[in-house]
Amino acid sequence: MPGNPEKEKRALNTGEREENRYWSGMIKGIKPYIPGEQPKDQKYIKLNTNENPYPPSPRVLEAIKRAADGSLRLYPDPECSSLRETIARHFGLKKEQVFVGNGSDELLAFAFAAFFTGKAPILFPEITYSFFPVYCKFFGIDYEPVPLGKDFSVAVEKFCRPNGGVALPNPNAPTGICLKASQVEEIAARNPESVVLIDEAYIDFGGESVVSLVDSYPNLLVVQTFSKSRSLAGLRLGMAMGREGLIEGLRRVKDSFNSYTVDRIALAAGEEAIKDREYFEETRRKIIETRCRVRNELISMGFEVTDSMANFLFMSHPAVPADFLYRELKSKGVLVRYFDRPKIENHLRVTIGTDEEMDCFLRALREVMACCPQGGS
Ligand SMILES: Cc1ncc(COP(=O)(O)O)c(C=O)c1O
Repeated sequence: MPGNPEKEKRALNTGEREENRYWSGMIKGIKPYIPGEQPKDQKYIKLNTNENPYPPSPRVLEAIKRAADGSLRLYPDPECSSLRETIARHFGLKKEQVFVGNGSDELLAFAFAAFFTGKAPILFPEITYSFFPVYCKFFGIDYEPVPLGKDFSVAVEKFCRPNGGVALPNPNAPTGICLKASQVEEIAARNPESVVLIDEAYIDFGGESVVSLVDSYPNLLVVQTFSKSRSLAGLRLGMAMGREGLIEGLRRVKDSFNSYTVDRIALAAGEEAIKDREYFEETRRKIIETRCRVRNELISMGFEVTDSMANFLFMSHPAVPADFLYRELKSKGVLVRYFDRPKIENHLRVTIGTDEEMDCFLRALREVMACCPQGGS
C-alpha cells in the first residue's frame, strides 16, 4: 500500500520522513562522520581527503587484473592468510599478530567494539580523527577528550591516568603532529590495564612506527592503512598489528557480522602493494619533499603551519579567516578541507598533491591573499 502523499510532502518540508519513526533510539541520536566532499560539478585540484596524488604501483594494478577472473564467483579466504603472511614478514611478526580489514576505519571500529566497551571512559585528544566520537556513540562508549597544548601538542602525561582505553592517531589528525616512538611506548607502558590503540594512518610520511613494539606490550594495537602511503584509498584495505589475543578479539567482532570483509581483488592487490617496496619508498619520498617545500612557502607568506609528519599541512593565517580562504580557493578550482569546529575553525587542512598541483594551490592562494587587505605579510 502506497504511503500518504500529504504526509510525505510535509515530511519533505520538515526533513522528517514518515518512515524515520522506525529508527532505533541510537540511530536517531547519532551524528555520523562526514567524509570530505567528492564534488562532481567541475574538475577540482583535490586536496581535501588526504588521498595520494600518485597512482598505485603498476605491480598492484597488474595483480588486480590477474585477480579479476572467474574465481570471483567464489568467496575470498575469510582468514586472509596469504596477505597476513606477507604483512607479517614485512614487519617481522607472525601471521597470528596481523589482522586485515575493509579500510582502517573498519579496524578502528572493530577495536572500539572489542576493547573499549568497559565501564571507564576512554581517552583521546580533544582534536583528533572525528570518527572517534562517532564510534563511541555507536557502541555506547564513554570518553573524555584530552586537552592539547596551544600548539596542538600531545602531552604523554595526560594519557597516563585511569581509563577504559586510549585511542591516538600518530601523527594526529588533522594537525599532523607526531609523537616519537619512545613517547608512544611510554603511553603503552603506563596503561597496562587498558588497550592503547595507535592509528598510524599517516606514519609513513616521516613518523616512527611502533609496530616493532607490539611483541613487548600485550595492550598495544597498531592500525595502518593502504589508503595513504600505498595509494589505495579506492580499494579499502587496512591492517592491524598486535599480540595474538588482541588479533583474536578483532576476529571475534568481524565474525559476528561479516566473515568476508576483504574481497579477492583487495587481497591480491594488498600483497603486491606490500612487496613493491621500491615504489612505496619513491612515492612517499616525493610527498615528504613536496610537503617541506610547500610548508616553507606558506610560512614565508605569513601562514602558521604545524610541523606535520603526514601527507597534509594544517595551516592558518593570523588575519585571514580560514572559511574565507576555503571558499575562495574552491571558486578557483582548488578543494581543501575546512572544519567548522571549535579551536580549529580558523585552520585549513591541505593534502599534499603532486608538485604541479601544489604550485596551482600556491598560485591560487597568492591571488586570494593579494585581493585581501589583511593578506599582506
Ligand atoms: C587518522 C585517520 N585514521 C584512519 C583513516 C581511515 O583510513 P581508511 O579507512 O581509508 O583506511 C583516516 C582517513 O582519512 C584518517 O585520517
